[in-house]
This record gives sequence, C-alpha cells and structure tokens, in this order.
Amino acid sequence: MQVTGSVAELRAWSRAVRQAGGTVGLVPTMGALHAGHLSLVKAAQERGDRVAVSIFVNPTQFGPQEDFAQYPRMLEADCRLLEAAGVERVFAPEPGVIYPDGAATFVEVEGLSGRLDGASRPGHFRGVATVVTKLLVAAEPDRAYFGQKDAAQVAVLRRMSRDLLLAVELVVCPIVREADGLAMSSRNRYLSVDERREALALSRAVAAGEAAFAAGERSAAAVCAAARRELEAGGQVRVDYVQLVNWATLEPVETAAAGDLLAVAGWVGTTRLIDNGILG
Ligand code: PAJ
Repeated sequence: MQVTGSVAELRAWSRAVRQAGGTVGLVPTMGALHAGHLSLVKAAQERGDRVAVSIFVNPTQFGPQEDFAQYPRMLEADCRLLEAAGVERVFAPEPGVIYPDGAATFVEVEGLSGRLDGASRPGHFRGVATVVTKLLVAAEPDRAYFGQKDAAQVAVLRRMSRDLLLAVELVVCPIVREADGLAMSSRNRYLSVDERREALALSRAVAAGEAAFAAGERSAAAVCAAARRELEAGGQVRVDYVQLVNWATLEPVETAAAGDLLAVAGWVGTTRLIDNGILG
C-alpha cells in the first residue's frame, strides 16, 4: 500500500489500473477510521474495484465554532487498518494541495445544501460538495463509496453528480452500528462513559419512528413525534432536528412512504451526533 499526498501520483495509479483493465473505487474519508469506513472498502472490493481511500480533514466543511482543530487525526493507525484491509492507495494530501493559495472556486448544491444538517451547519454541504468534487477529479474513480450514515450528504452528492454530469457511480452503503445500536462515528470518541449511554437515544429514536411506520402510521408528524419522544426520553440530548423528508430532495413530507428518510440530530454534551433510517 502506498500513501501519497500527490494528485499526480494518485491519478497516475488510477489511470494505470484502468489501462490494465481494472476499475477504481474511491472511499473518501476524514480518517479516525472505524468499521463503518471499512465497510465501504469492503463494498468496493466486492464489486471488484481496486481501492483508494482518501484521508483529509476538510476545513471548509467545518463552521468557525466547530471541531476542526480537535477532530481526531491518526494517519498511522488508519494506514495500518487500510493496509490490512487490502487498500492499494491512501491519498492524504496537505491542505494546500486541495486548496491552493487563493482558491476561489466552490461547488454549491442550491436548496439541498440548506436542509437538515445544512440548516444547522451553514456552509457545511458547500464544503463537502467542493472537496468531494476535487477528490473525484484527483482520483478519477469508476465508483465512489459513501455511507447512508450521512444521508443528507448522500442526497447532496447524488444531486451534484447528476447536475455536473460526473462520470462516476455513487454507491451508498448501509449504516454500521455498535452492538447496542449506536451508529459508528469518528465523533463517538468525544463521548464520556455517561454520554456514550445517553447517545443511544438517537438510534432508539430512529427505531421508534421506523416501528411506528411499520405498525401502519402514515402521518409524518406522528412518525416524527414517536422518534422525538425517544430522543428526549433521557433528558440528556439537546435535539437539533427530527425530520421525515424525501431522500432525494430533503424536503419534508406530510405522508410517510417507504423510501422516505427519517433523520435525527442532537447534541450529547458538546458532541453533535446524527442518525437516520430509510422507511420500509
Ligand atoms: P467521514 O465522516 O470520515 O465519513 C467517510 C464516509 O464513511 C462517509 O461516506 C460516511 O457516511 C461513511 N460512514 C461513517 N460512519 C459510518 C457508519 N457508521 N456506517 C457506514 N458508513 C459510515 O463523511 C465524511 O467523512 C466527509 O464529509 C467526506 C465525504 C469525506 C468529505 O470530506
């Protein structure tokens, strides 16, 4: 496995793979890797892709009051995991490679970027869309892999890919959870023992909303209320949002239908966590 910070090197590898008749899968990450990230690598390998993983803590997707400085950085440990997983290339660029001095070009998916996490994190999805565009241009993959864990991100990137006529297939993989239901996240490292227990309210909230739908409830307000009750039950989660939306547009729905996205977000202490489920 080779670790590189050079766009030219990454692109040369990608072109050589394709020249040899292979396909390239890119897994974009911000590092601090866990089993959720590794499930994306596995999904790529199962499709026969040769895999590159990018590790870049992207400054433009963090707000000024957010955790950019604290975000866990552990490149060596990450690389050991990726090497064991059979990854061929790790792209770990310096910030100046992704954002050359005076960089003034951004990708904005209008409308979608202001919904769900985009409403509470202004500029977040502009940063995500911009960096993912750059990573796709750098790696020229056949496929790029993303987790349903960040379901609003998926909606933004799908729309971006369609709008910009990108020649890449986006593959979306299921949420990987801890045994007790907590969705795996690099930010779970921030949680104290007590907060780790309280954080279970998120997965319970999603499960409660899904159960209401499975029991025949079709009022979006009632599905959300069932989820919100669980989220607020322990009194330790400060709710950001509980919303049932169309997964493609991220617009709220009134009548719940299979395929809709039930998304929740909240703060446990100072840590912001998200979770979701697709109904049906
Ligand atoms: P990061 O949070 O590191 O996540 C990288 C990828 O792993 C994302 O596609 C995310 O949805 C997926 N992922 C995270 N936790 C998961 C879980 N529990 N189960 C399944 N997949 C999971 O998302 C980002 O980084 C960034 O926004 C990025 C796309 C890299 C752009 O900077």
